[in-house]
Parts: sequence; structure tokens; C-alpha cells
Amino acid sequence: MSNKVKQVLLSAIFVAVASPSFANHPVDINDKAQIAIGKSIYQENCAACHGVDRQGPENPKDFGKRKPPRLDAKGHGFHHGDQIHFDQITKGSRNKSGKPIDDGMPPFRDSLSDKEIWATIAFIKSHWPMKMQMMQDKMNPGHAASQGSNHNSEMGSEKGMMMPKKQKSHGH
Ligand code: HEC
Repeated sequence: MSNKVKQVLLSAIFVAVASPSFANHPVDINDKAQIAIGKSIYQENCAACHGVDRQGPENPKDFGKRKPPRLDAKGHGFHHGDQIHFDQITKGSRNKSGKPIDDGMPPFRDSLSDKEIWATIAFIKSHWPMKMQMMQDKMNPGHAASQGSNHNSEMGSEKGMMMPKKQKSHGH
């Protein structure tokens, strides 16, 4: 192999490794199988609180001080990266010192596998309009390449999405 060829090959490998599009992102909104898993996990474990259509609880009065937020396009889930959702789902609601909160969200780390949790996040995200998906993808370091091309979403059916005024303006 000539030096020139070697050089070209090496730089191709470097590009492949360095390019974010090759990163192994656990959430893939274009993966129909993953979304299908996420959907059934969601209906079994999450819908009672977050609503069958991710619109929030049917009857907010059933809940204490902590109301489960909506996870659809009108919620603000897209203000957080995938890892923050993952942590919320594995650990549940915690106070500032990390202790579980009684009337908050339960932790799922013992009942769901990591794979199932990522799949649930993929399912939730797959229903956001492309614009929200793209904004949220920016919060996933190195994963911007997966954005947008999702044909599986109910695009446009969840109108009225909130645009963040400032990235960090919401408190919790
Ligand atoms: C018992 C009710 C309950 C169940 C069951 C539940 N949650 Fe939650 N969830 C909450 C509450 C309450 C919050 C608000 C967080 C807080 O107050 O600490 C929340 C917050 C969240 C958030 C953060 C949303 C945001 O906008 O920041 C995500 C994501 C989430 N839940 C996903 C899930 C998923 C996925 C499941 C199922 C695996 C699930 N939840 C099951 C009550 C619940």
C-alpha cells in the first residue's frame, strides 16, 4: 500500500470516529422497533400519571402537590437532553439532597432496563414535531446528526408547542 493510500485511509477512519453521526446514541427516533417497545412500556408504566396521549393526567386533582407534567408537544420536555429524562425516569422525583419525594414520580431503575427506558424516551420524542426534536437534539452532546428525519411522528397534530424564552428560564 502506498503512503498516499494509507494516508487517505487513515483520515477516513479518523473522520468516521470523530464524526457525531457515528456515535452510538441509545435513543433513535427513526427506529420503529425501539419506539414500539417504548410505547408499550409507556402505556403500562407512565400513562396513568402522564396521560394516555402524554397530555398530562386526566384528573390533576388525583395528585398531590406534584402534578405529572405533560410530555407532549405542549410540555417542556424538549428543554432537557435525553440524559436528564433518563435520570428522572431511573431515579424518580428527588429533593435537593437526592432523597425520594413521596408524592412524586417513582424510580424505575429496578423495574425497567436501561434499554427500555431509552426506548420510552424515543417513543415520547417521536411524537414531538420535528422542530422540537431538533431543538432537543442540540442538548444531546455529539448527537445532532440524528435530528429531524422522523417520519413516524404525528407531525403537526400537536399544535401549540411552547417555545422557550430562555433556555434556563424554567425552574425545577
Ligand atoms: C405516580 C405518577 C408518575 C408515574 C407513574 C410516572 N411519572 Fe413521570 N413524573 C411524575 C411527576 C409528579 C413528575 C414531576 C417531577 C417532580 O415533580 O419531581 C414527573 C416528571 C417526569 C419527567 C420530566 C418531565 C419534564 O418536563 O421535565 C419525565 C420525562 C417523566 N416524568 C417521564 C416518565 C416516564 C417515562 C414514566 C414511565 C416509565 C413516568 N414518568 C411515570 C409522575 C409520574
